[in-house]
Parts: sequence; C-alpha cells; structure tokens
Amino acid sequence: MIKKLVRKNIEKLKPYSCARMEYSGEGLFMDANENPLQSVKIGLKVGLNRYPDPYAMDLRKSLSNYLRVPAKNIFVSSGSDEIIDLLMRIFLNENDEIVIFEPTYGMYRASAEAANAKVKVCLLNADFQIDFRALPRYISKKTKMIFICRPNNPTGNLISEDDVISVCKMFDGIVVVDEAYIEFSSAKSVSRLSPLIQNLVVLRTFSKAWGLAGIRVGYAITSAEIINYLNKVKLPYNVSAVSQYIATLALKEPNQMIKLRDKIVSEREKLKNILEKMGFKVFPSEANFLLIKSEYSDKIFEKLIEEYRIIIRRFKNKPLVEDCFRISIGTPQQNSLLLKSIKKIVYGTN
Ligand SMILES: Cc1ncc(COP(=O)(O)O)c(C=O)c1O
Repeated sequence: MIKKLVRKNIEKLKPYSCARMEYSGEGLFMDANENPLQSVKIGLKVGLNRYPDPYAMDLRKSLSNYLRVPAKNIFVSSGSDEIIDLLMRIFLNENDEIVIFEPTYGMYRASAEAANAKVKVCLLNADFQIDFRALPRYISKKTKMIFICRPNNPTGNLISEDDVISVCKMFDGIVVVDEAYIEFSSAKSVSRLSPLIQNLVVLRTFSKAWGLAGIRVGYAITSAEIINYLNKVKLPYNVSAVSQYIATLALKEPNQMIKLRDKIVSEREKLKNILEKMGFKVFPSEANFLLIKSEYSDKIFEKLIEEYRIIIRRFKNKPLVEDCFRISIGTPQQNSLLLKSIKKIVYGTN
C-alpha cells in the first residue's frame, strides 16, 4: 500500500552511501577524509572530529525505551520540520495534493508548496475540531497526505485519538500526526499505534517540552517501510553528534522534562485565569501557548513590540483566528511582565 504512494524516482533511488553507513564499529578510521584531531575542545564526552552515526542508533535505542516502541519504527531528524519536508519529497509529485486543517502550523503548506504540490484546506469547525462531514470533499485521487496537528498550533486544542483513527480508516494515503506539543497535553500520544497502523506517521520533538529547540532534534514513529524511505532521502549526516549526544542525555532524566512541563502547564493555567479576569476570551490550551481573541489584538501586538520589546504572534490572514494573538508561556517573571504590559496597553494602567 505505501509503495504505490511513493514517487517513482524515490522508489528506484539508490541512496548515497556514506562511509559511516558502511562501517560504524570499532577500528582505525582512515576512510572518510576526517581529521584525526579536533580543533575545539568543548568538554562534552563526544568526539567531534568524526562524522556522527547516520542512523543515530544510541539515541533511537533510548527513544525506544522511553516510548516503548521498537527502534526500527523510529526515525531521528534535524527537528521535526525536517521530517515534514522529507515526507513531501517521498510522496508528492507536482500537482499532487495534501489536506490540512486550518488554522494550523504553517510548515505543512510551505513544504508542500515548495514541492509544487497543491494544498487543500478543510477548515476546522467552531470548536477547532475536524469537520468530518466536510472532509471527504477535500480528498481526491491526488491526495497523498493529510496532516493533523494535536495539540493544534495555534489553537491549542487536542484532536482526539478516535478522530485520528477515523481519518486513518477513511483515507488510504499517509496520515501525519504532528505531536510537537503532546507532552503538555492531558492525552496520551498516538505514537504507540504507529507500528500497527501502516499509513500513520507520528512526529515528536525535543524542541518544546524538553526545552531543547537549539539542538534541532525531532523524530518520527512510523512503519519500518516508511522509515526505509525516510532513510533513502535524508542527508547522510542529518543530526550532529552533539545533538544526538544531548538528546540521549536528556532521555536519561525524563523527570527533568516532566518538572519543566508541569511548571509551564501551571503557569499556563494561571495566565489564562488572569487574562480571563481582564475580560479576554482565552481558548483552552493543551500546549505551551495560549490563543487569545480580542478586538485589540493588533494594538496589543504592535505596542508590545514598540514599547516593551515583547514579541508575540498574530494571525492576520489565518481563517478563524484573524482577530487573535498567541503567547508562548514564559517564566513567572516573564509572564507577569507580559501581563503588566498588556494592562498598560489596554487600560493605560497596571
Ligand atoms: C506543530 C509544530 N510542529 C513542528 C514544529 C517544529 O518543531 P521542530 O523544532 O522539531 O522542527 C513546530 C514548531 O513550532 C510546531 O509548532
């Protein structure tokens, strides 16, 4: 089933074979034109003069333990954005289509359009849930992929596991479930379903709850068949040795992530209460941000930058959220500075 969705040239492609793919065990490496010495010492237990493991085996084993999913079903990337782009390259011919549920994360559209594919937009309903009555109208013979973001960016709500399963059942292309924010949510990841549902690709990341956006590590949990294609098209050394090392280190202390996550979730709820008391419509959030609807959105956005150097996000051209702004949850001090500034802008006082 997957094979018939893959672009013909990718199916036939003989991937570039790099030195560390051929042999990665112990030995004296004189094959890859690396330097035997390293110019900068960084105090990390990771050799930087050698190319990194192209298949990130140690990190995938740690992820396998953490997720309770076999390592053969895990693909590691330079941020989950890389996987979005690789999927477009594997599956989309010119004029093929993807379906997205707007308002949602902008990279699905950007990557699909870069691949010269068409983007069909099925609007979320008023509760920001999938409109199952409308969806079939957006699926055609050319539809290769459907993207579901759970929790959804920028609305912050969750799409249920049952709805994900329904989409996988009604559509025999690839269903990509982007769970970048799942750790902040009250729901379980659907990653455990990936090895069982052939057309499901779940995306996760170290950029959000783990607080490691700077190392650029994301991962996909999916069928071994799709992983095979991802390996075929990725750049040989897509994740640096430092990034693999730090992500593996982070997984040794999942409680650190849970502590960070709990602090953010508690700050999120505090901020939501205060903003509601100030009279704003704040949407429920299962992520590390809040979406706020206000007639003053533009003024708040502009004045926050001009007068306070606080940068938030607004969505002038996004359907359903044109008059909204989104704030990422910060530390208690940052959040209170933000609140004070908003009060001054809206009421002229704090
Ligand atoms: C829904 C969603 N998916 C993916 C990403 C990108 O994550 P990464 O840093 O792993 O590339 C983001 C970043 O904001 C996001 O909001």
